[in-house]
Amino acid sequence: MTTAIHVEGLVKDYGSFRALDGIDLAVERGEVFGFIGPNGAGKSTTIRILLDLLRPTNGDVRVLGEDPTAGGPELRARLGYLPGELTLSGTATGRQLLMHHAAVRDGHGRDRIAPLAERFLLDLDRPVRALSKGNKQKIGVVQALMHRPDLALLDEPTSGLDPLLQQEFLDLVREERDAGTTVFLSSHVLSEIEGVADRVALIRDGRIVVVDDVAALRAAAGQRLDVTFAGDAPADALADVAELEVDGNRARGVWRGDVRPLLAILQAQPVVHLELRDRDLEELVLDAYRTEGGA
Ligand SMILES: Nc1ncnc2c1ncn2[C@@H]1O[C@H](COP(=O)(O)OP(=O)(O)OP(=O)(O)O)[C@@H](O)[C@H]1O
Ligand SMILES: [Mg+2]
Repeated sequence: MTTAIHVEGLVKDYGSFRALDGIDLAVERGEVFGFIGPNGAGKSTTIRILLDLLRPTNGDVRVLGEDPTAGGPELRARLGYLPGELTLSGTATGRQLLMHHAAVRDGHGRDRIAPLAERFLLDLDRPVRALSKGNKQKIGVVQALMHRPDLALLDEPTSGLDPLLQQEFLDLVREERDAGTTVFLSSHVLSEIEGVADRVALIRDGRIVVVDDVAALRAAAGQRLDVTFAGDAPADALADVAELEVDGNRARGVWRGDVRPLLAILQAQPVVHLELRDRDLEELVLDAYRTEGGA
């Protein structure tokens, strides 16, 4: 079976500005693949090229085994797309808009409109232009997935969704994957999609910094520790904490791996406040730069 996405040496110039600087990507059929990067990294540019909404300057691109510039409507029909900047205007209602999408896809997905709307608490009878940002986003998500495409390209699908709906969306992505849809989705932050992505690529300044299993990335990144003690922070007891910084009664650092040894250390100390949280994307990317020797 062909890979869902195969990209080699992809370059995109906007005039004299190089937005993509030699991207390589291989996304297997049946996986949920996360494309993570800060503003301006090149996520939307890459996704638009995969859909042939934009032409590459250089490089080889295959989507479901085909060249997107030659795949035509047959290839397009096998894809689902949620744009990063979704604009819904006009007087049509959500139902009319989604029925229209079903109609141009030979009716595929029509029977899923009502159940998906119900699940996402979406009022299908309001004009789309009158919907809130989050509700517009829901219409976009339903539109991108309802016809069970072979490959769904979702550009920042969780933006605008409140935490509960983000969870509901991630559940849906898992179900669609289990039903055979390959899902490629972008996000600024790993934490928003790590519960659903099998693998992720981190992109920055038009280059892929690292591609890895989410679990492996998470483990390598570790967690940021911030503890306050009743008295002076016991620096000696915290010797196993990486990047340890002690300031009076406060200690900060990074913990990697099993947290139980850390809890055992803290158990014996007069801890008054403890914070342990996943490190954010920027830290992860910086770590990846170091370990990969990139840039
Ligand atoms: N039409 C264009 N003309 C000139 N430069 C562009 C154009 N579109 C994008 N760029 C530039 O290319 C780079 C990549 O943009 P892109 O939209 O792909 O980033 P992104 O990762 O999707 O960012 P965001 O998270 O903000 O959506 C940015 O520096 C952007 O300013
Ligand atoms: Mg974008």
